[in-house]
Amino acid sequence: MDAGDHGHAPVLFEEVLGLLDPQPGEIFLDCTIGRGGHAAGIAPRLGPRGLLVGLDVDPKNLAYARDRLAVTGTPCRFFQANFAELPEVLTAAGLGGVDMILADLGVSTNQLLTPDYGLSFTLDGPLDMRLDPRLRRTAADLVNTLAEQDLADLLFRHAQERHSRRIARAIVTARRRQRITTTFELAQLVRRAGGPVRHGPIDPATRTFQALRMAVNGELDNLRALLAAMVDRIKPGGRAAVVSFHSGEDRLVKQALRQWQSQGRCVVRTPRPVTPSEAELQRNPRCRSAKLRVARFGRPTEVTKEAGWEAGEREPEN
Ligand SMILES: C[S@@+](CC[C@H](N)C(=O)[O-])C[C@H]1O[C@@H](n2cnc3c(N)ncnc32)[C@H](O)[C@@H]1O
Repeated sequence: MDAGDHGHAPVLFEEVLGLLDPQPGEIFLDCTIGRGGHAAGIAPRLGPRGLLVGLDVDPKNLAYARDRLAVTGTPCRFFQANFAELPEVLTAAGLGGVDMILADLGVSTNQLLTPDYGLSFTLDGPLDMRLDPRLRRTAADLVNTLAEQDLADLLFRHAQERHSRRIARAIVTARRRQRITTTFELAQLVRRAGGPVRHGPIDPATRTFQALRMAVNGELDNLRALLAAMVDRIKPGGRAAVVSFHSGEDRLVKQALRQWQSQGRCVVRTPRPVTPSEAELQRNPRCRSAKLRVARFGRPTEVTKEAGWEAGEREPEN
């Protein structure tokens, strides 16, 4: 599926639908409804007796998805909420548990390409990066106030930036002259500080922008909270799917799924993460780092039976 007029192409669409395998009457919780791409494929399968619950921190994407899904004929509820608030959302929706959960992490293409979000080093805009307007701290606040050592740690911890110290030093030097307020200002000074110019497809500012976005939006902490909460909210027979876009996220997902499986709570349906096909990469190069992991939860007897069947396979390390 491509972006069409919706501003974002749902990643691994067929694979997500195939592994979640929605059934009539089921309850689907889309934790990152975005432009409603995955949801538009799933909602019709739930039918009039099913329910779609959609969350997003970004009110603009949420409003877009609400409009897009209005025609499906499936009951829908929408919440402007962080998926870390999953228990509160389910309480507000009057639900004890759900049959399917999807978290398609990161940002949508329209967010990346709208300069106002300040997410892209190729478009000039305010150095903001907040997906959730309720957040107080922007990327500009971080780069203009954090101590040099804390900035370097942030760049290294979130994006393994090799030149973290040099970049942090350049930021601190530049902000003594003038506050850094735009994406272009930051990108320029990172490119100058980040060592010899690399000739290749990866811009030297990539990791700095990724690290700041993760810090501003608390991405790893939110994912930890979601994983901790979701395991108790999936009904017997339910399925959970997570699409991640960098190694820090994927590691958390892999560890959680393994732990739940070892506790006999689920069967991991993706011993190896599912990645985009060549055809999808051609259509949508932005999805090159996507990894999908899926688990199926069961009544204890079902899980034991299936886990026994999978136990013969050695789980690969990736
Ligand atoms: C990759 S897009 C999802 C695209 C969607 N699956 C589709 O097909 O249109 C990720 C979305 O998740 C939202 N988001 C990011 N972090 C979130 C969080 N912690 N809680 C809720 N929504 C979040 C973003 O605002 C964005 O709209």
